[in-house]
Amino acid sequence: MMAASKPVDPDSGSALPRWQLALLVGAPLALGIGAAYLWSRSRAKEKRSKGDGERKTPEGSASPVQGQHGATNPEQDDMSPLDRAQAAKNRGNKYFKAGKYEQAIQCYTEAISLCPKEQKSDLSTFYQNRAAAFEQQSKWTEVVEDCSLAVEMNPRYVKALFRRAKAQERLDNKKECLEDVTAVCILEAFQNQQSMLLADKVLKQLGKEKAKEKYKSREPLMPSPQFIKSYFSSFTDDIISQPLQKGEKKDEDKDKEGESAEVTESSGYLKAKQYMEEENYDKIISECTKEIESKGRYSAEALLLRATFYLLIGNATAAQPDLDRVINMQDANVKLRANALIKRGSMYMQQQLPQLSTQDFNMAAEIDCRNADVYHHRGQLKILLDQVEEAVADFDECILLKPDSALAQAQKCFALYRQAYTGNNPSQVQTAMTGFEDVIKKFPKCAEGYALYAQALTDQQQFGKADEMYDKCIELEPDNATTYVHKGLLQLQWKQDLDLGLDLISRAIEIDNKCDFAYETMGTIEVQRGNLDKAIDMFNKAINLAKSEMEMAHLYSLCDAAYAQTEVARKYGLKPPTL
Ligand SMILES: *[C@@H]1O[C@H](CO)[C@@H](O)[C@H](O)[C@H]1NC(C)=O
Ligand SMILES: *[C@@H]1O[C@H](CO)[C@@H](O)[C@H](O)[C@H]1NC(C)=O
Repeated sequence: MMAASKPVDPDSGSALPRWQLALLVGAPLALGIGAAYLWSRSRAKEKRSKGDGERKTPEGSASPVQGQHGATNPEQDDMSPLDRAQAAKNRGNKYFKAGKYEQAIQCYTEAISLCPKEQKSDLSTFYQNRAAAFEQQSKWTEVVEDCSLAVEMNPRYVKALFRRAKAQERLDNKKECLEDVTAVCILEAFQNQQSMLLADKVLKQLGKEKAKEKYKSREPLMPSPQFIKSYFSSFTDDIISQPLQKGEKKDEDKDKEGESAEVTESSGYLKAKQYMEEENYDKIISECTKEIESKGRYSAEALLLRATFYLLIGNATAAQPDLDRVINMQDANVKLRANALIKRGSMYMQQQLPQLSTQDFNMAAEIDCRNADVYHHRGQLKILLDQVEEAVADFDECILLKPDSALAQAQKCFALYRQAYTGNNPSQVQTAMTGFEDVIKKFPKCAEGYALYAQALTDQQQFGKADEMYDKCIELEPDNATTYVHKGLLQLQWKQDLDLGLDLISRAIEIDNKCDFAYETMGTIEVQRGNLDKAIDMFNKAINLAKSEMEMAHLYSLCDAAYAQTEVARKYGLKPPTL
């Protein structure tokens, strides 16, 4: 796994951790809305929303509500107040169509004052129409006010809700916008692209904003030991992840003084390495700092190790200067510099700076061209960038340098599979699947091989076989929480078995209570079951465990979507159907 995207996506041996989840929940667009996919799938045949065209005619003269009374001759004196109001509205509609919004507004105002108060549905139409005219004049506050009156009288008035959502967006009231657009999506059964797009957009903006805020003030959090070990195991040609040589420590002690206890105290890096072996990770950063500040002989190693732990606890700001220093140490061991470049490159990728990232990986390949890790990690970067051919070339290079690299072989298969799948090439898909069979035959102890194969199988709807592969994975790595989550998701997709799915995800949390992927997935399922409070709780747990701002933003979007649904349920009694 790529150095920094590992902490982001503990579940992924591939570049596609969300991919599978998205398959379950629906198109990426609908992801934030939770129930959208299953709901719209079950309703797909029922109706194509009436929404789109209707809403684009702001004055809505085509709407049945407004047509009811409109036929009466406006000149007649014996008209009822309602008829006169209707007539005023019709005049307003004419002005509206002619682009004369000021006059239209006057007519709608007249209609409103003429209309008997008990005629709620007519009155709400007049307000809605006036809001449409205000919208044309970019008077957003007025739009919101009129739409609110319309909605008060007719809580299921899609047009008014959507118009208010758009105005709230203009006023930068994202939360209010989200609530309205959520109500619209539910009323339209998630069938209208326009409202789904607005929901998606505002959810992303909200997530980004909140994550930015929260990320700054967050407590650093050490990932689980399983995670840390797996992170280090993704580097094979790396000095700092090697265990200490038996002699190393003693030699060092002899070098300095006779009193070994005291000496150990002063040798920060070696001490840090020892803590690492003992899984006493919290003390590593401070020991490295001692080594660096005393300008010890392992300063470069200590900088790299400290940076690595800063990355692991999600503090890229602190990691970067350390990585920069190692990279700039011309006389340091080239393995250290290459490793620092891989990590900085991955960090840039996390920060969505693909150019800087590519630059670092290329430089790593230049200074240490026989380092398999460089190609392995660069291959993963290329997958994220959707440059599958280059990814495959990198994996090939890695395999050439390290023929026993099962991971690179499995990932190569996965890259080929994705390429075939997205390119809609069935015979290449078949070849990739056969490739997976070869990999698991050749490396029966490589859990990742089974996991990636299982993802491809799931994708091909070969659920039974995918399930077997996850079982193999669990057999090999019983403490890998992620696998249980994937297996749980598979049960949902395959058998729609919620209980079994949730059971497996609970097991994942038992194994690793810092598994953010498990909390996220459970939250998504709870949304679909209509347990919104529980879902929000789960998403918040995942937010506190998120290892990057991007990840956090995504989780906030999910959480906000769930929260908006609870608000909509409370205010309008609207609920999407649940599983
Ligand atoms: C868990 O397994 C996944 C594959 O399912 C792998 O990508 C990941 O590195 C493993 N994580 C740990 C912590 O071992
Ligand atoms: C990250 O490290 C920087 C510099 O060491 C520090 O100022 C900041 O408080 C740290 N942030 C977190 C969230 O720990």
